[in-house]
Amino acid sequence: MSIPNQIKSPLRYPGSKATFLNVILKFIETHKLYEKDIVEPYAGSGIVSLSLVSSGVIKRAILIERDPLIFAFWKAVFEHTDTLIASIEKVNVDIDTWQQFRNYLKYDTPENQQIPDLALACLFLNRTNFSGILHSGPVGGQSQNSNYKIDCRFNKKKIISRIQRISLLKDSVSVEFDDALQFLHTSNARNSNNCFFYIDPPYFKQGRKLYRYNYKIVDHKRLSDILRNANFPWILSYDKHEFIELLYDDFLKTHQSFRYMTKTPKNENELVITNMQIPSLRKDGQLTPLVNVHLTDFLSISG
Ligand SMILES: C[S@@+](CC[C@H](N)C(=O)[O-])C[C@H]1O[C@@H](n2cnc3c(N)ncnc32)[C@H](O)[C@@H]1O
Repeated sequence: MSIPNQIKSPLRYPGSKATFLNVILKFIETHKLYEKDIVEPYAGSGIVSLSLVSSGVIKRAILIERDPLIFAFWKAVFEHTDTLIASIEKVNVDIDTWQQFRNYLKYDTPENQQIPDLALACLFLNRTNFSGILHSGPVGGQSQNSNYKIDCRFNKKKIISRIQRISLLKDSVSVEFDDALQFLHTSNARNSNNCFFYIDPPYFKQGRKLYRYNYKIVDHKRLSDILRNANFPWILSYDKHEFIELLYDDFLKTHQSFRYMTKTPKNENELVITNMQIPSLRKDGQLTPLVNVHLTDFLSISG
């Protein structure tokens, strides 16, 4: 199964999992999850869920995001589409505007009436900063003495057409501002029978560099504790690290190679972990053979 005419995100997202779609498709196919809603508690670009809904594979998606700017962006795409588009058409893409939008990084919680402004700030910083990182510096530097200027990735026409296409999904997508651990914890308590979860937390190694909201060791541990007791199907992607493998030592894991679109695009190995069976693994496919690392195996290997 593949997705024809795939949508593209208006955001250049660090760690975007567009290339993870084939794994999720196999997961859905293997476990016959077509009738369930997909929940993404760490939404980011939301590209996995949005592509699945847009192609009709899944009927509904729920996106959760803790970063108020990212949350506001998706909220505005679906609920303030015309205002957002009008503001993109009007905005001057220069260093003075960049300085103004930097001020929006101070907000920790989005007020309803701020959503359109926060959304524009998010898009602006995402498309004018290095690698789409909201808290990094502008392309071309403050002095703009570079061949690449601040507006080199701000093609208004393209961005607007991507927003328009995605906004058509508004009746099938809900966007919530929440902490993922909190959300997952309460999902366990309420009836989540009609959902499956695609979980893509901040990276263990690079999280702090890429995202304003990221995880300490204790948070990674809490996530694994919640997932260990989860009563819903989940599939998790993580950067490959021994600590994470140990946290999930009793779950099935495999590795997937991803192409990351950071400053210098590169292929990285990523962990794929689930509380369901991992779908058929073929050497010639995207998934490499299953590696189920148990704590005891790990200790004997590293010892
Ligand atoms: C690895 S990225 C997700 C990328 C996404 N899967 C994609 O394809 O674009 C992790 C996301 O989690 C968000 N995040 C960080 N801490 C969070 C928290 N406590 N609750 C919810 N989201 C959080 C970050 O802002 C970031 O957008």
